[in-house]
Amino acid sequence: MNTIQKKIVTSRTRSLSIVIPTYNESQNIVKILDSLDHLLPREMDAEIIVVDDNSPDGTGIVAEEYAKKSKGGSYPVQVIRRENKYGLGSAILAGIEHSKGDAVVVMDSDLSHPPQTIPKMIEELHSSDCDIVIASRYVKGGSTSGWPLKRRLISKGATKIAQHGLGIKIKDPMSGFFAFRRHIINNIKFDAIGYKILLEILVKAKGAKVKEIPYAFTDRKTGSSKLDLSVSFDYLKSIWRLYRYGKSFRENEKRTSVRFLSKAGRFYTVGASGLLVNYFVSFLFGAVLSNLWYIYATMIGIIFSMTSNFILNKIWTFEDRDFDLKKTLLQYGLFLGFSGIGAVFQLLAIYALVESQHINYSLALFVAVAIASVGNFILNKKWTFQEKVWS
Ligand code: GDD
Ligand code: MN
Repeated sequence: MNTIQKKIVTSRTRSLSIVIPTYNESQNIVKILDSLDHLLPREMDAEIIVVDDNSPDGTGIVAEEYAKKSKGGSYPVQVIRRENKYGLGSAILAGIEHSKGDAVVVMDSDLSHPPQTIPKMIEELHSSDCDIVIASRYVKGGSTSGWPLKRRLISKGATKIAQHGLGIKIKDPMSGFFAFRRHIINNIKFDAIGYKILLEILVKAKGAKVKEIPYAFTDRKTGSSKLDLSVSFDYLKSIWRLYRYGKSFRENEKRTSVRFLSKAGRFYTVGASGLLVNYFVSFLFGAVLSNLWYIYATMIGIIFSMTSNFILNKIWTFEDRDFDLKKTLLQYGLFLGFSGIGAVFQLLAIYALVESQHINYSLALFVAVAIASVGNFILNKKWTFQEKVWS
């Protein structure tokens, strides 16, 4: 036993699960299981979980036979056989869900990921108190060999998209070879589309400490890559979802005061736009289109501006996209009601300020408008759009 292996054994309060997804890997699966068998110390509390998606070449059967034979051997091998090809990401997740280790390693089954790197990953996980250890092709000492230019470009391009689009600083966020402590994924809701489980963990496991260690990726000798056009589409889709996820998270991270003020800002912007709508619609009906009595024209202008204010505030200010008819009508009614209350309040306040306090009209008007509009914002926030006032 070498020193690394000894350390793993002595720190054995934590056990290890190795998750290996397979699809048409009958030529590789035995080799990888054998080399793990030689590599992992017998005393180690490890388990291997193969997740096969009903490979036409019988990988699942081969793995199951291996598992039976190796019973009582150095570590248990379990095979999850799924009925259909549900994709790599979901296969990995199924394996993780089934596994019991405090530490989990995910690796490919086509011998591209050298098993010799695993002890180093576990060692790193335990010694440098980080939560995720990524075996990386793109840190110093890492490499890829056997890939044609096209594949290298795709890999680099996808990496850049992740780094720039999602603000990830990791050099190889697309790695399919990584280890993590189970607890960091406890609260993650996975989308699991396509290949990119690691990326999803990196985005969603907030505050996880990540470390990359180098390894040399060698292209598979037998079988073929399953990365096709649909995987690339799935990739873009998952980037988009993760981007949206990050965005909503960043919104939530903003200070409450910032969020409150930005909503208030939008509310008043909408109010200002209402004045324009009011003016132009009244003008249109009163002077251009017809010879409607100017009072009627103004009433139409008011109705239009109230309605546009309501719609803009619903969609833009309060980001409420639920257009259920009953609910929306109720909100509309409340919105109009509060505007009416605001108007009446404004009149009364001005009257009171001017008549009994002898404040001059321009100041009284300013004070009354300010109070009415703040009140309007708060009432609509709380009652019409059902938000907490201070949020
Ligand atoms: N169960 C299951 N279901 N396994 C799958 C599926 C699937 O739908 N698709 C692929 N696999 C398995 C393969 O059998 C292999 O063990 C592993 O997942 C990786 O698939 P490959 O087809 O060999 O992927 P690759 O070599 O092109 O891509 C590798 O490098 C990428 C980085 O450029 C993988 O490690 C990717 O995860 C990695 O992102
Ligand atoms: Mn491969």
